Amino acid sequence: MNQSARERFEQFYGPGAEGLRTFFAPGRVNLIGEHIDYNGGLVLPAAVTLGITATCRPREDRIVRLRSEGDALPVVIDLDTPIAPDPARGWGNYPAGVLHELLAQGVPLRGADVLFTSTLPQGAGLSSSAAMEVLTSFCFLSLAESTHMDLKAIALLSQKVENQFVGVNCGIMDQFAVALGREDQAMLLNCNSQEYRYVPLALQDYVLVIMNTSWQRRLADSKYNERRAECDRVLELLKTDAPPDGLAHASWDLVQRRVSDPVLLRRARHVISEQARVEQAAQVLSDGDLRTFGNLLTASHISLRDDYEVTGPQLDAIVSAAIAAPGCLGARMTGAGFGGCAIALVEAPAMPEFTTFVQAAYGAAVRLDPAFYATRAADGVHEVFQET
Ligand code: GLA
Repeated sequence: MNQSARERFEQFYGPGAEGLRTFFAPGRVNLIGEHIDYNGGLVLPAAVTLGITATCRPREDRIVRLRSEGDALPVVIDLDTPIAPDPARGWGNYPAGVLHELLAQGVPLRGADVLFTSTLPQGAGLSSSAAMEVLTSFCFLSLAESTHMDLKAIALLSQKVENQFVGVNCGIMDQFAVALGREDQAMLLNCNSQEYRYVPLALQDYVLVIMNTSWQRRLADSKYNERRAECDRVLELLKTDAPPDGLAHASWDLVQRRVSDPVLLRRARHVISEQARVEQAAQVLSDGDLRTFGNLLTASHISLRDDYEVTGPQLDAIVSAAIAAPGCLGARMTGAGFGGCAIALVEAPAMPEFTTFVQAAYGAAVRLDPAFYATRAADGVHEVFQET
């Protein structure tokens, strides 16, 4: 284990390396396929190199202490007392919800001290909450010496925690990408059947750039549930012709015949057109046609801006700046929207000019300072072993 992580852990919890273990869960970007996981659609996310590390040491009792670096006080949980959501617990509700669910599933949990350290900006739409859930699951199942480390089951358990304990009605994409991501691969996930395959993310001379708007995704949770309800309303209007696999599989002709409300029509048009873009994106990525892939990214953003209305001034400004910048093949928001991050596909040698241009244009438009991270597809949750 890297010395400084251990030193920091011991500063918080006292000396003793016995039983100390380290786990890592990445964040994710969604390359394309936005707001269609809960409509039974196809999505194309990838885990990224930024993420959360948990350093932990088992205890002899049934107490769990969780600390996030930078927080003065730990979240303390007694495994023998029922665990309920508590707004005062803040971020601690994610791991608390996971412990609650693991206990409900009969996992023989043991007490532990845990220190979380993160390189993942919070509230930036890179799935810091899914990373925290999947990481806590993986860490406590490992400490319980569970032989049952099914990553798909961990993803489903984490989504259940987010839906039922935290109260955000998210789809399955984030937890799948964080649990099952693979280095240099994107994941083509069918959110209806939950089958997936990996698609090589061969970017040739290009880099995938994450652009943080530095604007937190404020409205995301309430608008998110509102969009889900609008999609359900479209399905109701399709009545018995509603596709059993979800709105992503509806025919646009049928929707136009049955739905008259212009807002609902736009929502459905995004879902149906985005599904087609994902199919095409997976194909052109496999063919190495990055130019078309870039065009699809931009088309996805326009659909999310005009039809689904989940972008907002900051994401629109950063994507417009990126598209106009040197070396960029395409750009779009990623995640739930209303702030957070966008991604851009940029010629590697043009990176310095690209960031200078976007920083200036974005700053002039919205008076915020963006952050840039060149990233690549990375492995999903795993234990970090000490180098020998
Ligand atoms: C959030 C949710 C995901 C997905 C995206 C939008 O990240 O957690 O399930 O719906 O928004 O594509």
